[in-house]
Amino acid sequence: ELKTSYDNIIVSTPAPGVALLQLNRPKALNALCDALLDDLIHASTHFDKSEECGCIVITGSDKAFAAGADIKEMATREFAEVYSQNMFKQWGSIAAIETPTIAAVNGFALGGGCELAMMCDIMVAGDKAKFGQPEINLGVIPGCGGTQRLIRAVGKSKAMEMCLTGNMIDAERAERDGLVARVYPAEELVDQAVKMASKIASKSQIACKAAKETVNASYEMSMEEGLRLERRIFHSLFATKDQKEGMAAFVEKRDAKWEHK
Ligand code: CAA
Repeated sequence: ELKTSYDNIIVSTPAPGVALLQLNRPKALNALCDALLDDLIHASTHFDKSEECGCIVITGSDKAFAAGADIKEMATREFAEVYSQNMFKQWGSIAAIETPTIAAVNGFALGGGCELAMMCDIMVAGDKAKFGQPEINLGVIPGCGGTQRLIRAVGKSKAMEMCLTGNMIDAERAERDGLVARVYPAEELVDQAVKMASKIASKSQIACKAAKETVNASYEMSMEEGLRLERRIFHSLFATKDQKEGMAAFVEKRDAKWEHK
């Protein structure tokens, strides 16, 4: 059940089929404290299960998407505590969302902020966005995918540069390097992300989920296994009403009416 309000995020449904989750801890530049993460997981899990929702957009403020995990909350923790509680494991719930997700990044996406954005399926950025993995400056390393998802997005040399120097990259370079799909003027970013989300939400949800699952599986598989999985999932979609409808609509030169079945 969606709560009527959350302490650390603002939830809205700006277009049919689209959920917008805005990180909202302005005084801490949306640092991802445990409570914020709980709110984000709670709301995104709700929308992931909702039949009405076809795409989830996660955004922050103009100044910061998120400046990372909450350093003040972590600073005095001991090994036994972070190990036995498996700190950050719960972030996997965001990566496990089956509904398509878009990260709309304005301002800083640093450390866990960059990692949260990389957990989303598509990243779009405002032209003043800045990305970085500055954990090295704190005597640690990225802990939520920065060493794993970043290298897959931009390649070894660029990922190493970011993780070892802590240098930030701007939106233009993030797009050139393949971290970001598109860059928009900062003030248009959220509208553009919602527009993209609306387009995704207008498709067959079952086909979108299948596409997402199959693209993500490529991270874990050889080319041959991946191609086989892709073909088998493609075959399985012939058991859906949406495949019959989609292909009939094409032949009859009309718009498809998806049942998401
Ligand atoms: N955790 C806790 N608080 C944070 C924070 C963070 N990650 N980032 C910013 N804040 C707080 C600041 O402490 C400050 O609070 P006070 O007003 O109480 O002092 C407030 O947000 C505003 O920040 P600044 O005054 O520093 O703002 P600025 O504009 O001068 O600088 C910044 C902006 C460059 C983003 C700077 O805040 C910064 O470097 N933040 C930390 C970035 C970072 O190191 N992130 C990695 C965190 S570790 C991690 O994420 C591990 C992981 O892999 C999951």
